[in-house]
Amino acid sequence: MLLPNMKEARKRTNVKPEFLYNEYNVNQNMKIGKNKKYFIKTYGCQMNEHDSEMLCAILEEMLFTKTDVMEEADIILLNTCAIRENAHNKVFGMLGRIKHLRETKPNIIIGLCGCMAQEEIVVADINKKYKWVDIVFGTHNIHRLPNILLEAINKKQQEIEVLSNEGNVIENLPYKRENKYKAWVNIMYGCDKFCTYCIVPYTRGKQRSRKKEDIIAEVKQLINSGVKEITLLGQNVNAYGKDLYDNYGMEDLLYDVSQTNIDRIRFVTSHPWDFTGKMIDVIAENKNIMPFIHLPVQSGSDRILKLMGRRYTKEEYITLFNKIKSKIDNVSITTDIIVGFPGETREDFEETLNLVNECKYDLAYTFVYSPRENTPAAKLPDKTTEYEKKNRLAELNLLINKYALENNKKMLDQIVPVLIEGISEKDNNMLTGYTDTNKLVNVKATEDNIGKIVNVKITDVKTWSLNGEIVS
Ligand code: 5AD
Ligand code: SF4
Repeated sequence: MLLPNMKEARKRTNVKPEFLYNEYNVNQNMKIGKNKKYFIKTYGCQMNEHDSEMLCAILEEMLFTKTDVMEEADIILLNTCAIRENAHNKVFGMLGRIKHLRETKPNIIIGLCGCMAQEEIVVADINKKYKWVDIVFGTHNIHRLPNILLEAINKKQQEIEVLSNEGNVIENLPYKRENKYKAWVNIMYGCDKFCTYCIVPYTRGKQRSRKKEDIIAEVKQLINSGVKEITLLGQNVNAYGKDLYDNYGMEDLLYDVSQTNIDRIRFVTSHPWDFTGKMIDVIAENKNIMPFIHLPVQSGSDRILKLMGRRYTKEEYITLFNKIKSKIDNVSITTDIIVGFPGETREDFEETLNLVNECKYDLAYTFVYSPRENTPAAKLPDKTTEYEKKNRLAELNLLINKYALENNKKMLDQIVPVLIEGISEKDNNMLTGYTDTNKLVNVKATEDNIGKIVNVKITDVKTWSLNGEIVS
């Protein structure tokens, strides 16, 4: 049993991560899934979604087949998120629902993985009160799923294997990509920013960039398999390379990836701190890098930004924002905002509203602050009531939605490129896709357009989506 240790997870040493190319292996003894089904429930961010693509690939190499019906499954995995308390609560609620499946299927395997598995209090609870959860593994050792699964089955006891080290870079991992035209590509793991509210540096380890050659090789392979759009993934992509190279950063990687001639390149998530002028130029000059930037601000109050450890002021953020807007044609910028950070006053919150009025974001993801285990902000005094925090969130959302709609209205009658992904879930006669600026569009078009980038005239706009029709 290897339990998580938050103190260890916080450590950052000068030891370089290892690049391991032969860690993942499924041998004949591990192919135990014949005629058995697996079900995976994923919570949280795109990094977790992408990790689930790895879980699917591993289980399929073990000969399990996928099911979307939990009750049919012989193995259920919950790939969890730790970022806010409500993500926690959902997982524990789900575990409650799963428990009774054991009664009719005594051999079912139930597993918990992802970010919550990296938390001491969660795993202590699972170990004491949820003995019927068979396997627990963390974000550093997903590739060991076959080994962990076999241990649990052979020993007939709960198997917990969570590493709280800084992490390595594991290469040659398999992914079962659900979308034929769009793919995520990890460019780095972990985070060293330690914003005071955030649990990610503890759950995902030290910042470790993948080698540029390995990233480019993956992109080329994706192009060969018909992928049109890639999203470069990391907790803090603008810091790419800082831990690995003396003189090669995100702007260089973006340039090199753009030279593969893939149709569309996106990247998430950017921290304003590492966003260089050169990077803005590379995005502006290379037309296959999409004019879409997710630039989390978190708060508009300098006092709160300082308490959050964000390392920029409102003024500096706005300067960067304006530089991006002025240099990149037609760019769309979205953000993340937390309300109710400990000690946030009405005045602080109004600073955030002012910032939104200035930036007029295309979209924003807004959250009420949630205290996380062992993070510095969780120890700060906080007098604001939950009621007040929820009111602030609602007030902020009204403003965000107003600008989202205003920005969309400007697109009426414009002709924009859209990568058509498939048939709309809501209306079988419509296709859906995303513009270069990452806006969802419902398009009246025939199915032979799926997988193509087509010109679409915007005929109607809403707050969250657009409607349009193909023009030739
Ligand atoms: N409480 C609320 N929101 C949080 N986020 C990160 N940590 C917390 C927390 N403790 C938000 C941030 C981040 C997004 C992914 O989640 O806005 O950018
Ligand atoms: Fe993703 Fe962070 Fe949630 Fe982990 S805690 S799943 S890294 S959002």
